[in-house]
Order: sequence, then C-alpha cells, then structure tokens
Amino acid sequence: MIDTLVDDIRRIVREETTPDGLLAALVGRLTPLAEDRSWIAKDLYATDENQGFGITVLHEEPEDGFLLETVCWAPGRGVAPHDHQTWGVVMGLDGEEINVDWHRRDDGAVPGRADLEKAGETAVTGGVVKTFSPNDIHSIRNDSDRPSLSLHLYGRSLAKTDRSEFNPLAGTVAPCPKRVRRGE
Ligand SMILES: [Fe+2]
Repeated sequence: MIDTLVDDIRRIVREETTPDGLLAALVGRLTPLAEDRSWIAKDLYATDENQGFGITVLHEEPEDGFLLETVCWAPGRGVAPHDHQTWGVVMGLDGEEINVDWHRRDDGAVPGRADLEKAGETAVTGGVVKTFSPNDIHSIRNDSDRPSLSLHLYGRSLAKTDRSEFNPLAGTVAPCPKRVRRGE
C-alpha cells in the first residue's frame, strides 16, 4: 500500500506545476485512504507521553523530498500554533481533532514578537482534509476522550526545516522545538 502511494506522490509532485494543482491532486490521491482503513495498524496509535502525540514516519524522501507520516493525538492533548515552511496536506483517519487556523496580524518586524488572532476551527474527522501553504499557521487539540489519528503529507521533512512556534496569549514567536518521532 505504502509503496504504491509513494510512487503516486512522486509522480504527482513531478507533474503538477502549480501549488493549487499540486494540493488538489494530492488530496484526490489521499482521500481513498480514509475510506478503506484496513491499512491502519494498531501501533500507529502509540503516543509520546511528554509530547502528547505520536508521530510515525511512513516515508521520508531523500534529499529534501516529501514526508509522509501519521500523527496520533492523545485525548485532551494538542500542539501550540506553528507553521510548516512547506506545503502540507492533513487528512483525518479516525476520531476527531480540532484544527485551529490562525491569522498573523503583525509584519514580523519585531524579533520574537507575533500578534495572532484565531481565524477559524475545523473538526477533522475521517476523510476531512486540510491543506496548508508554507506560511499558514495552525494548532491542533483533541478535545475528545479517545485518540485521534490523521495522515500528514509535507513537501519536505519537518525535522530538517526551521519552523516557528507561536504563543498567542503572550504574543511571542520562537523556533519550533524538534518533535519526537517514533523509532528515533
Ligand atoms: Fe502542523
């Protein structure tokens, strides 16, 4: 399943020449994976206690290529607002997680400061898809009493990308901390 998917993603990334075309083609390719969920293994639900979520890398393309992973959010946990500095597609697989989109109001002129306002919320459940541009800012929380699982595809490895994490209440921005990934 993963091999065929990775081949198809390689082809789509090679062939699509516009950001909108690329994201639309990737969404079309990923959507069936939320319908037939027989490929979802139990161990994808493992989470890191300190972090509050568990990342399982399914495929990481060499030389700055795309990253395919699942993320499982523990009940009551989440992650602070952050950007990705690359394109992204996130699709719900199981359970429900709340995706919060943030709008940055300042121009970034003051180092360490950022003025964010909430722009909207989406309940991401099985088959619900969100796409992201490099500077989009979002946060996630799982308000439910059971784990949520989602599939994530990014234009390059987030582990090798300098990203930002935001604190909307304090009005601050800082380098995004490295995430714990399973098996590393
Ligand atoms: Fe994210």
